[in-house]
Amino acid sequence: MRFGCVRAGRTAFPVADARADGWFGLTIPQWVGDDIDLTRPSVSRVYDYYLGGFHNFASDREMAEKAIADWPDLPLIMRSNRAFLRRAVGYLIGQGVRQFLDIGSGIPTVGNVHEVAQGLAPDAKVVYVDTDPVAVAHSRQLLAETPNAAVLAGDFTRPAELLQEVEELELLDRSQPVAVLLNALMHFIRDDQEPARLLATYRDWTPPGSYLLISHATHELHPPELTKAHRDLYKNNTANPMTMRGHEQVTAFFAGYQLVEPGLVLSEHWHPDGTGSVDEAERFPIWAGVGRKP
Ligand SMILES: C[S@@+](CC[C@H](N)C(=O)[O-])C[C@H]1O[C@@H](n2cnc3c(N)ncnc32)[C@H](O)[C@@H]1O
Repeated sequence: MRFGCVRAGRTAFPVADARADGWFGLTIPQWVGDDIDLTRPSVSRVYDYYLGGFHNFASDREMAEKAIADWPDLPLIMRSNRAFLRRAVGYLIGQGVRQFLDIGSGIPTVGNVHEVAQGLAPDAKVVYVDTDPVAVAHSRQLLAETPNAAVLAGDFTRPAELLQEVEELELLDRSQPVAVLLNALMHFIRDDQEPARLLATYRDWTPPGSYLLISHATHELHPPELTKAHRDLYKNNTANPMTMRGHEQVTAFFAGYQLVEPGLVLSEHWHPDGTGSVDEAERFPIWAGVGRKP
């Protein structure tokens, strides 16, 4: 039973994982917490919509539809980003990595890190972290019965607190390599938040032999009017403005790591497995790479 007031504008969605909540016959999904602002799009839920998920509200869908009207490839671009993550986790398992810290993990969707990793190595451990309450609530629900996987509400820009909470979970062993996954996260970190300093904190926390994964939106392949309009949508509607960056800037984020082959490349060019669109890689403006800490 949910206690409290139904806020104006609150909508009940008959989604697959909804639970009967006892509110005058309404069905309110478990992931709709009272702390969620339904009127303001969240990057996590907008991304969920691009990927065809159900964990989004009218405000998210409206913003995503506006973005797609300007840039019809967006849902495919998000799928390319997601496919890179899946391939890279498979690669990391092949390198012997068994621990993953996935920051900005988003709302669970097809090919979650623990599914890929534990499908290949059942002993793999995964900690998910996100600031978005829907992402955290839904991940918690999904992981309730999953051993060796956990989720935390945490902010990448507050590394000391985030890492302290990770340590308190006692799931990851800091004496063994950890892959820090920042898939489609860094373009939500502004330059004034000092991304290089933040990344150094995470790097220093991990032992030698650890890895860093980054995928990052770039403005370099499309007309400036298009990428500016896209950035404006995020700046004007969400709490997370986007900072698209160029190849050189994203390469610099791997300071202290050695990029593994093929280096920092377009997402479609990173270890293609035959399911993507390698010949049309430039439609997907995402720099993607994996670095190893020597
Ligand atoms: C585009 S989604 C990417 C989801 C997933 N990593 C993927 O690539 O499929 C970006 C996620 O980063 C989260 N995020 C944004 N800023 C964050 C921060 N400072 N700390 C943690 N998560 C953040 C958002 O809530 C959102 O879920």
